[in-house]
Amino acid sequence: MARPYQPSLLRSLHGTTALLVLACSGSGLLVYSRYDGRWGRLPFEPGGDWIDLHGSVGVALWPLALLFALYSFTIGARRLRRPANAAALLALALAVGSGKLMQEDWLRQGQLHHLVYGLHLLAWLVISAAVLGHLAGVVGTGGIPLARSMFSLRHRPGDQPRDWLGQMKRQFTGGR
Ligand code: HEM
Repeated sequence: MARPYQPSLLRSLHGTTALLVLACSGSGLLVYSRYDGRWGRLPFEPGGDWIDLHGSVGVALWPLALLFALYSFTIGARRLRRPANAAALLALALAVGSGKLMQEDWLRQGQLHHLVYGLHLLAWLVISAAVLGHLAGVVGTGGIPLARSMFSLRHRPGDQPRDWLGQMKRQFTGGR
């Protein structure tokens, strides 16, 4: 069977989005444990300004998520028909959107009652479940080779970053 291959533009947008989502989830867990902890805490007290770091990763994530969503709705529309892919993108939108409405000082000041904060916590659970479902979907469809293809550094001829503009033009002019 042919080795699965993902277009390099998709791999770049998807790979960086996935890494930043991971960094946001991890730093978010530390923030939750230190400043909230209503449903349990980590067994250690995280030092450092994790709110600042979490916010900075979030600031990097949202424009990237926007570009990734644009890609998914246009060039990647065919893959987006898979429910597990669409669920991952929806969960990303919820997490990024509610995060943008958060204010840094709420947690520092012990204000845990804001609706937006509740939504952001919920988004964290939703994206964790959606990414697990997405991974199960990917492995269920194409096994480990398909999952690995998203993080492969291999480029086919004609699929280098300098070809991205041409690929987009072909997509939007229907291959003419
Ligand atoms: C962490 C957050 C993640 C989000 C938000 C996400 C989202 C998405 C979306 C929206 C698509 C469809 C892209 C398109 O329309 O062209 C997709 C495809 C894909 N993702 Fe993810 N993903 C994530 C993590 C991962 C991880 C960790 C892996 C693998 C280890 C992975 C492997 C794949 C693969 C192989 C495809 C192509 C599947 C297909 O052909 O249907 N994703 N992802």
